[in-house]
Amino acid sequence: MNRNIKEIVAQMTLEEKAGMCSGKDFWFLKSVERLGIPNVMVSDGPHGLRKQDSEGDHLGLNESIVAVCFPAACATASSWDEKMLESMGKTLGEECQAENVSILLGPAANIKRSPLCGRNFEYFSEDPYLTGRMAIAEIKGVQSWDVGTSMKHYAANNQEFNRMSCSSNLSERAFREIYLTGFEMAVKEAQPKTLMCSYNKINGVYASENKKLLTDILRDEWGFQGYVMTDWGAVADRVKGIQAGLDLEMPASGGVNDRKIVEAVKNGTLDEKELDKAVENILRVSFSYIDHRHPEARFDRDADHAKAIDCATECGVLLENNGILPLSAGKKIAYIGEYAAKPRFQGGGSSHINCSKVTSALESAQAKGRNVTYTKGFPFDGDVLDEAELAAAVKAAQEADVAVIFAGLPDVIESEGYDRKSMAMPVCQNRVIEEVAKVQPNTVVVLHNGSPVEAPWADSVAAVLEMYLGGQGVGEATDRLLYGEANPSGRLAESFPYRLEDNPSYLNFPGDGFNVDYAEGIYVGYRYYEAKKLPVRWAFGHGLSYTTFEYSNLRLSAPSMSDDTTVTVSVDVTNTGKVAGKEVVQLYVADKNGTPGRCIKELKGFEKLSLQPGETKTASMVIDARALSFYHEGLGDWYAPSGTYEVLVGHASNDIKLTAEVSFTTAKKLPLIITGATTLGELLKDSRTAAVAGKMVAEMGKAFGADQPSDEPNPLGSGAEMMEAMMYGMPIKSLASFSGGAIDLDGLIATLNQFANA
Ligand code: BGC
Repeated sequence: MNRNIKEIVAQMTLEEKAGMCSGKDFWFLKSVERLGIPNVMVSDGPHGLRKQDSEGDHLGLNESIVAVCFPAACATASSWDEKMLESMGKTLGEECQAENVSILLGPAANIKRSPLCGRNFEYFSEDPYLTGRMAIAEIKGVQSWDVGTSMKHYAANNQEFNRMSCSSNLSERAFREIYLTGFEMAVKEAQPKTLMCSYNKINGVYASENKKLLTDILRDEWGFQGYVMTDWGAVADRVKGIQAGLDLEMPASGGVNDRKIVEAVKNGTLDEKELDKAVENILRVSFSYIDHRHPEARFDRDADHAKAIDCATECGVLLENNGILPLSAGKKIAYIGEYAAKPRFQGGGSSHINCSKVTSALESAQAKGRNVTYTKGFPFDGDVLDEAELAAAVKAAQEADVAVIFAGLPDVIESEGYDRKSMAMPVCQNRVIEEVAKVQPNTVVVLHNGSPVEAPWADSVAAVLEMYLGGQGVGEATDRLLYGEANPSGRLAESFPYRLEDNPSYLNFPGDGFNVDYAEGIYVGYRYYEAKKLPVRWAFGHGLSYTTFEYSNLRLSAPSMSDDTTVTVSVDVTNTGKVAGKEVVQLYVADKNGTPGRCIKELKGFEKLSLQPGETKTASMVIDARALSFYHEGLGDWYAPSGTYEVLVGHASNDIKLTAEVSFTTAKKLPLIITGATTLGELLKDSRTAAVAGKMVAEMGKAFGADQPSDEPNPLGSGAEMMEAMMYGMPIKSLASFSGGAIDLDGLIATLNQFANA
């Protein structure tokens, strides 16, 4: 239906318009019957439907309808499989249509800055590009059913401690490159119908009243078309919020803030046009849902459970394997750890799903008639070691051919609302793993966690399979992977440092409660570990398979590119093993121009290929100028200097197979504003002033006798070299003062600025 939204808004009273800008209750928007404005519902998200029919809450406390829990983002990101995530999104979209939910509150696209963030399980990755690609896939999937998404929590919300008030303080460059890029990619490519602003402040300004964030960047730069809602209770100053570009306050404000809006319009503080814009944004999205209902949509819990299993199978990451996996059918296997019988598969808080059913690995093994025994070893929750249970676990392991320990992080440790205190697993679990590994060389550890853990036992076990929080089908997915019914094809979406202290945010997490300084800047995750040459337990992008792959024939569609041309990077990958498998071809880019402050390499492309034994396929990935660029604060734009860039293609960030070079030319000019503080070095480096500065240096050199040979040996090099180094760092104001009045500083600045702007 073609509706004239402006006309509808024109018919609304001031009170109705103000009322439209906050929820009716916990989950519904308000309706205006006389104008046909619908009563639409929103629900969490992001990896299942938490629709609350009765008492509402934002912490997952009250019961929601029976639904299906898919793998959380920590797991789906590890699949590096956009098709899988898009298809999971489609299922969620259909569930929403069937349950009459207009917006699914997700995906969550915050960066995993520290392993300790309590909500990391809901976030995709430490890398913004991977985050963006996965968010795009989920949004496209959900929205294909004409249901909206709410990408959250915008922005720089990377911890739970004082998340509602703390200020995330960071440089513009880190903000743009690390914390905004995922949001930017998704807004530009998938247009989420809504965005949820976060609770926190950014450099002192609440996200909910941050005009730069909600309007200048989101709408003016990126072209966002939907509406912005608050996180639940994130409003600070409601009127400032409207002015900044915040459309909807959630949940209800009990009319308090609506009255403030009315008052502000009446007293002239708020232009009614700004209010109209917010209402239009909300109505456009709500009507688009109402006008595209799908009566054919079904919430088929059994089919969706099967889907949840398939998704989880794609997410498992095989971290270590000495050849013990896949397990062979004839072997006697001891399952140890309560997660074998009762998997840990989702995190606490607003994403918590009331599951239709949960399959455990033990149940799957028993259903398939596998030769397994089960010992509890340690409890599902808490950190209590029962010596008798430990002894029973050790005995069971001794009596079996292989021990599989199902371990990870208990529920209480990982949840929305608070952060983890350490990166360690419970002591009781580490102890059981260590004791079992002493008596059983064929010990396999299966992990269930939403974020990296320290794994002090990693070198003494035979295999480690990371299943993350894999949703309600995780048990069957684990079974398939352990026994080779499926070949692990996940890759880490984050680095596993050896210890928490190695993490770049260690000294600045979680701040003092008022401020948290992102002092590590852009050096988050592998960007930091690589720059510091700091070894990690498992690197970003790492993941093993039951087959092997060979890379060949790396080629570029052109040897060079520019601001508006792209290059396609292609590489052939062959499955050289005996079983079918999937390889995630990863493309990284490195600046080879000595540009200060650039990372060793950054992920800029990937493709997941499915290969039969002996089969060869080609991965093709496109790079553009943005892929080579960093955010230049002086320019206020993305910038890559002209020069040479390396393209690195391989299996993981620490396993590059082939490289090539591409040359790049930009027409972008960096601003050069000359002041007394500008150094001769800066002038010499810039082509606009290099010639004139060169002359100045030569004259200075003569004046100081640097061209005369010296008899004195100089540890810093020759007199000429020393003079050059000194002059390089010399501001022109000092040059003028050394000249004893011969150089007129103002005149020199004016002349140089003419060259700079020529
Ligand atoms: C969470 C959001 C969630 C909302 C509604 C908030 O506390 O931060 O992610 O969507 O509650 O439950």
